[in-house]
Amino acid sequence: MTPHPKSVLVLNGPNLNLLGRREPAVYGAQTLADVETVCREACRTYGFTLDFRQSNHEGVLIDWIHEAGVAQAAGMSAGVVCNAGAYTHTSAALHDAIKGAAVHLIELHISNVHAREAFRQHSWLSPVAQGVLAGFGVNGYALAIAALAMQPAGSKQ
Ligand code: DQA
Repeated sequence: MTPHPKSVLVLNGPNLNLLGRREPAVYGAQTLADVETVCREACRTYGFTLDFRQSNHEGVLIDWIHEAGVAQAAGMSAGVVCNAGAYTHTSAALHDAIKGAAVHLIELHISNVHAREAFRQHSWLSPVAQGVLAGFGVNGYALAIAALAMQPAGSKQ
């Protein structure tokens, strides 16, 4: 019997709905719909199904991470790719959610946050993330999905 394909949850946080219009010199011209297409193609390559979401609300992102933890425990999730936007730099609550739900999560940023303002250089997510990708533009989402395929949830790398 062919195993049920695992899903990848791609979470986008605040202001990422504005991609394409928002600071194009930093984030590029591609929209969130374009990002979804990049993710869909990468998921097709690796045999994952895609669950693609965006919210401007911290609590909603936390609820979705809890949901991913349940899916992962049931063997249905390959992991989470999370661009938490500015909540990356402020949210102890997201840190606790990732840790508490024990999700296999890759932190992602379109821009190279380390080459930007000082406040972007601290991340509450990095200590509880499997890994971090920053500065590869929207193609970073495809790289993150490839990383989930190479390091499945539950593996001790
Ligand atoms: C971002 C970087 C964050 O510092 C910023 O607040 C964002 C987007 C990125 O994708 O480069 O909203 O996460």
